[in-house]
Amino acid sequence: MKSFFHVSDIGDLGAALEEALQVKANPFAWKHLGQDKTIMLVFFNSSLRTRLSSQKAALNLGMNPIVLNIGQDSWKLETELGVVMDGDKSEHLREAIPVMTSYCDLIGIRSFAGLKDREYDYNETVLRQFIEYGGKPVISLESATVHPCQAFADLITIEEYRKKKRPKVVLTWAPHPRALPQAVPNSFAEWMNAADVEFVITHPRGYELDPAFAGKAPVEYDQMKALEGADFVYAKNWSCPGVTDPSRYGQVLSQDMAWTVDAKHMAVTNDAYFMHCLPVRRNMIVSDEVIDAPTSLVIPEAANRAVSAQVVMKRMLESL
Ligand code: CP
Repeated sequence: MKSFFHVSDIGDLGAALEEALQVKANPFAWKHLGQDKTIMLVFFNSSLRTRLSSQKAALNLGMNPIVLNIGQDSWKLETELGVVMDGDKSEHLREAIPVMTSYCDLIGIRSFAGLKDREYDYNETVLRQFIEYGGKPVISLESATVHPCQAFADLITIEEYRKKKRPKVVLTWAPHPRALPQAVPNSFAEWMNAADVEFVITHPRGYELDPAFAGKAPVEYDQMKALEGADFVYAKNWSCPGVTDPSRYGQVLSQDMAWTVDAKHMAVTNDAYFMHCLPVRRNMIVSDEVIDAPTSLVIPEAANRAVSAQVVMKRMLESL
């Protein structure tokens, strides 16, 4: 595996899930693979789970992880080409990338969408520079449009907890005070469309996800109707993807608290499990009673981030 952005990069999902369960059962069995190998984990944005789970996965494989927080540990980096660098950014990605990759064998990048320029974000402009100028296998640790390590961990969690062969999985938009990127729902939709599940998306009008990720998944604008009979409820906020109106890209179109997932919403499901990628705003996205219930999977889901990261790194080490 040379890069990890999309569900297609992982190949057969059944085989990937089987490998994930093996890695989870015996995390140190492949420690030899990473001997004398280094992974660089580059963060342009904050993280708790991604940073720690990626380090843990690397250590389980015997690799040396190096973490760099851009702008805190390093110079501020310019990401746009052709600009006069007379501001506060001292170094350009064009030089920084080959320098960073000269010290490592694999590289992971966290670089969120700016939510100002849809074309810049949806072209994955920052990540593409790491591919072009780095020459090393690249993992998206949540880039402008995708969060594949999260979606893979979500799928592992659904596999572990499903009570039927083909569960109903509902992705529901929920309110948030700030504009958030679409990477998590994009990847979740992409991975659920590829998995053996009945997948439904629900959100207020205007929040339609990019068809490259949403595919042919049915969109039900009535949230309660969408949730009927659900086996898994996956809540997430996202800002306007700008599909139907590009001028509204990145905007907050609704803060309707009726969309907060609470006991009333869960009551119409099939005793569903609640999922969220975290961090989560309590009593905005989800009520305390739902996230604190025994049916909340937010902690096992976060724990599986180390498993998904380890499978991806393992495969990359195997193909070096
Ligand atoms: N879910 C997730 O990616 O968490 P962090 O932003 O804390 O890494």
